[in-house]
Amino acid sequence: MSDHKSKLLEKISSRTAVVGVIGLGYVGLPLALLFEESGFPVIGFDIDPKKPDALNRGESYIKHIGPERVAAAFARGRIQATTDFDRLAECDAILICVPTPLGKHRDPDLSYIRSTADEIALHLRPSQVVVLESTTYPGTTREELKPRFDARGLTAGEGYFLAFSPEREDPGNPKYHTKNIPKIVGGIDPASQEVACALYGAAVEKVVPVSSPEVAEAAKLMENIFRSVNIALVNELKVVFDRMGINVWEVIEAAKTKPFGYMPFYPGPGLGGHCIPLDPFYLAWKAAEHGVWARFIELAGQINTSMPHYVVDKTVKALNEQGKSIKGAKVLVLGLSYKADIDDDRESPSFGIIELFQELGAEVAYCDPFIPAAGKGRKWDVGLTSVPCTAEEFARHDAVVVSTAHSPFRDLALYAGVKLLVDTRNLFPPSAVPCPVVRA
Ligand SMILES: NC(=O)c1ccc[n+]([C@@H]2O[C@H](COP(=O)([O-])OP(=O)(O)OC[C@H]3O[C@@H](n4cnc5c(N)ncnc54)[C@H](O)[C@@H]3O)[C@@H](O)[C@H]2O)c1
Repeated sequence: MSDHKSKLLEKISSRTAVVGVIGLGYVGLPLALLFEESGFPVIGFDIDPKKPDALNRGESYIKHIGPERVAAAFARGRIQATTDFDRLAECDAILICVPTPLGKHRDPDLSYIRSTADEIALHLRPSQVVVLESTTYPGTTREELKPRFDARGLTAGEGYFLAFSPEREDPGNPKYHTKNIPKIVGGIDPASQEVACALYGAAVEKVVPVSSPEVAEAAKLMENIFRSVNIALVNELKVVFDRMGINVWEVIEAAKTKPFGYMPFYPGPGLGGHCIPLDPFYLAWKAAEHGVWARFIELAGQINTSMPHYVVDKTVKALNEQGKSIKGAKVLVLGLSYKADIDDDRESPSFGIIELFQELGAEVAYCDPFIPAAGKGRKWDVGLTSVPCTAEEFARHDAVVVSTAHSPFRDLALYAGVKLLVDTRNLFPPSAVPCPVVRA
């Protein structure tokens, strides 16, 4: 057994290995907390000083990661957060959780991974294991990370260890969290695989070893493409059934009684979040390099991104029925986050809906109890703050459009004075609502 491998395995089994987590966002923060809670000393790194500052004060900046959990971890003194990347040299394991967005032309933007890999390479020393967790196309670990680390004169599998292990997160899910979601691990060589599996095995309940980083990278994309394609399918069926006067939500309830071979997906105003709208295009881009076209990915992308237009068209028609023009109409969009009861508005279709209404000359407001002000995103800058979640506010508008099914919106009393409700989430059975309802 190589000296470096045995040294590292020993540190992992005695929980003295220092675990460094780079990127303390939705993925990195829970991962850092999990390793701390599993008994490891942890150093969290982020380029945004506000994050380490908040954590070191025992505060959380992510709604579903409670401040009590952060405060308890930082009070134990085993975890620290910093912007000082020289401290990477102190780490025995380095887990990379930085963003992987798309560029303007929907091509992968690997700049965060590359700059992080350069930073790690500066500090790389023998007996360290580096694991990439950011979602990316198959080949990234081998093509982007390994050459940068090899250039330091160390050999993968002997001097240092390298693997890919995708993160699977379902923010706000009370049943599944970082510890009990099985963790796929693909090492770049057998020694790296052994070390990386030992590391995760010390913190999560189930490790799923695969034969290479490429399989692990591809598995993550397959999971997200599966969701994107199925959501697109049900969105298309929503439009088809609507034309036929059939309620798609009732159809889904009926179909899901089949005990095998069917899994329900639900329609909505479009895709949101940091993963499902973006990740599939990482594979489509890489597939083109190999001369193959991932047609389902492109088609699903087209259908899902057309949904905000569908919602706006349905609203315009419904207002027209009431003798109102969209120009000058007061429209209230309910929910800015992409998913119910969370405060994450990345890639949310609500922004597209708001912008389309604005382009048509509507006077648009939004209400989101979880997002008091619409921050400037990579694509959007709608410049709005949330209006109060009250029946008086709802009644002031010509149309109220449900984009996100936040729990506070389920109070029927809010809709007493609403003139038109456009529901993209099946918030209520139409007969229950005391106002005109249109499904979109
Ligand atoms: N959010 C999810 O539910 C989820 C689930 C699975 C996988 N992922 C993937 O995990 C990765 C991270 O996603 P996220 O949602 O945690 O993103 P995030 O934006 O919440 O967090 C990323 C963090 O990295 C920091 N950062 C950026 N560049 C850095 C650098 N060079 N060095 C150090 N820190 C840096 C940012 O300041 C931010 O705090 C992405 O590849 C994403 O696709 C996300």
